[in-house]
Amino acid sequence: MPKTENLLAIDIGSSHVRAVMAQSVVGEDALRVLGAVSMPSEGMRRGSVVDPDAVAKTVEKAVEHAERMAGSPARVVGLSVSGTDIFCQKAFGVVAVGRSDGEVAEGDVERVIEEVESRVMLPANREVLHVIPKSYRLDDQTNIKDPIGMRGVRLEAEAFVIGTSMRQMKGLARISEAVGLTPTLHAVEPILAAEAVLNPKQKELGVVLIDIGGSTTSVIVYEEGELVHMSVLPVGGMHITNDIAIGLRTSIETAEEVKLKYGTATPSEVGKREEVDLASLDPHETESVSRYHVAEIIEARMDEIFRLVNEELRKSEREGMLPAGAVLCGGGSLLPGAVDLAKATLRLPSHIGYPKPLGGILDRVDGPDFASAVGLALLLEERSHSGKGGIGRFNVGGNAKVPEWVEHSGKKAKEWLRKFLPME
Ligand SMILES: Nc1ncnc2c1ncn2[C@@H]1O[C@H](COP(=O)(O)OP(=O)(O)OP(=O)(O)O)[C@@H](O)[C@H]1O
Ligand SMILES: [Mg+2]
Repeated sequence: MPKTENLLAIDIGSSHVRAVMAQSVVGEDALRVLGAVSMPSEGMRRGSVVDPDAVAKTVEKAVEHAERMAGSPARVVGLSVSGTDIFCQKAFGVVAVGRSDGEVAEGDVERVIEEVESRVMLPANREVLHVIPKSYRLDDQTNIKDPIGMRGVRLEAEAFVIGTSMRQMKGLARISEAVGLTPTLHAVEPILAAEAVLNPKQKELGVVLIDIGGSTTSVIVYEEGELVHMSVLPVGGMHITNDIAIGLRTSIETAEEVKLKYGTATPSEVGKREEVDLASLDPHETESVSRYHVAEIIEARMDEIFRLVNEELRKSEREGMLPAGAVLCGGGSLLPGAVDLAKATLRLPSHIGYPKPLGGILDRVDGPDFASAVGLALLLEERSHSGKGGIGRFNVGGNAKVPEWVEHSGKKAKEWLRKFLPME
């Protein structure tokens, strides 16, 4: 049966490294999962690589495990890019239409997107990973979604330029090198999570996706089918664990267990006399603690996370105004009461977002904590079908065959990443 080569999506988070090996098989609607792995990560802080060698060891184990499950090696590899170094900035570009009859061609759109990238004002040491066109203007006509085939003289584009620090990309390159991987795609985590979890209707109506990870929470907002805002906040589930450890004076490991076994963000649902016996979790402990008190600690931090998210919505003038509401994913969304607290703090309908169902080993990849890894696998598949394979090329908006987001490596990143590309 014809199939694509094994696609391997690796999501390196501050809490977990996840790998999804998948294949698209003709006649099957959904991508078929051949292997899925989740391992505690080391060497990451706030989603950024701080110790590439430590991260590489975990990634190597995850890849080996996924390949063992699949029974064959990975061929096409993608890496997620996470962390608070991620930036998303609006920029403009303008070019003259090339053809003498004034008809806009694909090449004009590519040039104007390149122009956007070259004109964007970024601090030093930044790498551009994606340029997502928002709209085009052709002479006096504004708000054009697809200018190809229209006639005019001056083509202008407004786009979001998205990327991360050179430091982060260097860290990821060292990991790839150490593990012997040659990734053909690097994409930022919020976009990947959105790819896996959100549907076109939600994006059309207006929605915010909140990915609560280990030490980051990413926020991405869509409206009228388009990206409106994106940011990565330096706070996540590990902060809740740390607060519990301080509040109960326990080790981090015990605090994490307390959170996973007894935690909730809704103290009102806990009986005031309910106790957590710490000795059952850690032989060094002797005391029992109030579960209500644990819930209060969790609620305070979770509320702070949603307030910070609300601040982002306020900045993008969407506070309380997104009809498709808030969709939560990432490991932190599994905390009982998270959805109710999101509803109350954000004043939006809220629910957990599960990745689109895939075929094969289903149960491993259907949780909200697998959103980014599944999104990356879906994107690898999309790109292997569209033939837009390698980093260093970029898609242009408005082409129906092309995903609505644009993967694009910056000029500096292109040169630097070229050595990781297979020879063309
Ligand atoms: N069932 C659960 N209840 C509460 N919290 C949970 C649960 N499962 C996982 N978490 C929390 O989710 C967090 C990890 O989430 P996730 O695995 O999505 O992070 P990550 O992707 O590695 O991190 P980041 O995206 O910040 O780099 C941890 O703080 C963990 O305690
Ligand atoms: Mg994550």
